[in-house]
Amino acid sequence: MSESTLPEIKTVGVIGAGQMGSGIAHVCALAGLKVLVSDISEAQLEKGVASIGHNLDRQIKKGLISEADKSAVLDRISTGTSHDIFGDCDIVIEAATENEEIKRSIFKELCQHLRDDAIIASNTSSISITRLASNTDRPGRFIGMHFMNPVPLMQLVELIRGIATDEDTFASVKQFTDKLGKNAVAAEDFPAFIVNRILLPMINEAVYTLYEGVGSVEAIDTAMRLGANHPMGPLELADFIGLDTCLAVMYVLYEGLADSKYRPCPLLVKYVEAGWVGRKSGRGFYDYSGDKPVPTR
Ligand SMILES: NC(=O)c1ccc[n+]([C@@H]2O[C@H](COP(=O)([O-])OP(=O)(O)OC[C@H]3O[C@@H](n4cnc5c(N)ncnc54)[C@H](O)[C@@H]3O)[C@@H](O)[C@H]2O)c1
Repeated sequence: MSESTLPEIKTVGVIGAGQMGSGIAHVCALAGLKVLVSDISEAQLEKGVASIGHNLDRQIKKGLISEADKSAVLDRISTGTSHDIFGDCDIVIEAATENEEIKRSIFKELCQHLRDDAIIASNTSSISITRLASNTDRPGRFIGMHFMNPVPLMQLVELIRGIATDEDTFASVKQFTDKLGKNAVAAEDFPAFIVNRILLPMINEAVYTLYEGVGSVEAIDTAMRLGANHPMGPLELADFIGLDTCLAVMYVLYEGLADSKYRPCPLLVKYVEAGWVGRKSGRGFYDYSGDKPVPTR
């Protein structure tokens, strides 16, 4: 089937109203699509919709959109705590916590609510698309769609075919990605795909550098900003991504590639065990409780 004859994606479901799910809902609604978002709690959904409102305000301040656009975007988004809201969706994008068991149980429950031709996409940062797809009733209509954080700002979406993903699914999702104004790059189904295969070992190495006392949080981040011209230091970036997500990706690399070079740094493990998972919890390598982030080491 050629791209132009593919059915257009008009209604989008999003599972998870965290950093990524709310960002994905934002860009889909801004592209004129109807969006339904689910999460496990009403409180999380309210938080997600509030963060979309806040990010739309930032776009208004920058002159990118108008007040009228903001209310139109918010009107196109509805929420619910059950998967039965997804009955009319052309695609459902899963952006729940980076944990294979959680994702598997979501997909198992989700399929019965979907149209037979609906596509399921996972925004996983690292988990095998083939394995996740095999837990559904539609491996051919399953794909990896890895958005970058923050979704409204970042241009890239990695598209990952599982072994069973059919070409129509890939073409439809490529067309949909174009419609969102994003650039798609195809990545093969290897642990952590392209961006995180390269980025996360660098972040993990930055945590080792801190752990071994080579530099302080501030020294490491300043060194990489000024010495390697990175827009953010690696520890600042880790806090932004979420240390729980960073650790989960390192485990997928470590176990999936069976190579000790991907061993998660014990300090990263300890921070996650302490609940210091970065910006979203108020503390990671920086403390975010005051006006300005303060390094913790
Ligand atoms: N943070 C990043 O930089 C980034 C970038 C790209 C992809 N991702 C991926 O996106 C996904 C979400 O990451 P995030 O940063 O938004 O995490 P997050 O912790 O901000 O949000 C996760 C959300 O999933 C919800 N959730 C958990 N179990 C659920 C369930 N059973 N049903 C519905 N919702 C459920 C949680 O309540 C929470 O709102 C992960 O797979 C992650 O690897 C993250």
